[in-house]
Amino acid sequence: MSSFSIFVSRCIPDAGLSLLKKQGYKVKVSPHDRVLTKGELLREMKDIDALLCLLTDKIDGEIMDAGSPRLKIIANYAVGFDNIDLKAAAKRRLFISNTPGPEITESVAEFTVTLMLALARRVGEAERFIRAHKYRGWEPMLLMGQDLYGKTIGIVGLGRIGGGVARRLKSFGVKFIYNSQSRNADFEKEFGARRMSLEALLKQADFVTLHVPLTRETRYLINRKNIKLMKKTAYLINTARGPVVEEKAVLQALSKKQIAGAAIDVYECEPAIDCDLKDHMELRKLDNIIMTPHIASATIAARSAMAEAAARNIIAALQGKTPPNAVKPE
Ligand code: DGY
Repeated sequence: MSSFSIFVSRCIPDAGLSLLKKQGYKVKVSPHDRVLTKGELLREMKDIDALLCLLTDKIDGEIMDAGSPRLKIIANYAVGFDNIDLKAAAKRRLFISNTPGPEITESVAEFTVTLMLALARRVGEAERFIRAHKYRGWEPMLLMGQDLYGKTIGIVGLGRIGGGVARRLKSFGVKFIYNSQSRNADFEKEFGARRMSLEALLKQADFVTLHVPLTRETRYLINRKNIKLMKKTAYLINTARGPVVEEKAVLQALSKKQIAGAAIDVYECEPAIDCDLKDHMELRKLDNIIMTPHIASATIAARSAMAEAAARNIIAALQGKTPPNAVKPE
């Protein structure tokens, strides 16, 4: 029987927990159905060999030190890892891992397209209309939206998810432009896509969809200045990370009708949706925005695969191997 102990900071799908238990590890799952306070997490770090944490846990050097000297790995239950101080982990020779995989790629790409269609066809507004008992019968001008057909899709960040969005939209008769650190000749050939600067993309795209990780370089990638470049008829979709977009700039652009709409799944001040409560109340009043609670990967398949990936990363580290999804500071 192994004597390794794992702490899981919030309940995740059983697929991952059972993999860990099968190894004979002692697995403790937080009894609280909420984000732990720093104090609570610090207390749980004592005498564990691995921490399986969530993107809502802020993991800094102090948390890492509280796990010393036993702690070997911090396995994040997410693809993004902007909640973890990677440099602090490298100093302490700790493994950090994330959970990329085909299931999460497909789920997030599918949800992004869901948001695009919902925005273009005003699904949120239409639903609210019905619920408000406003429907009096078919009308020639009722809730007219936009087709995706013939439109230009601007993909910012052409990784697995950005590519997955393009694969899904190919049959919609759209054009693709993209902004990415490196050129992808295969993508250009297959999708007839053109790579361009962010500024050029913002000027040309009818739908701007963000698929970059949150880093120092991508914080406020879309901001007060460059959002003005977008067309009045264009839509912005963010399923990446909240701070990639300056939220106040979106609020302003939407209220002044400088852009047609936005769909936001991630927020600047998560887990709180209130870095500025007043503004968020304003956001809620707008009709040309769809807001969802960070659920782009929330399918049973994706979340189970993420749980398994996190467990496999822990198992590898505790066996003295490099985890399959180890991440390092840039
Ligand atoms: C991630 O994995 O980074 C998503 O934001 C949550 O699944």
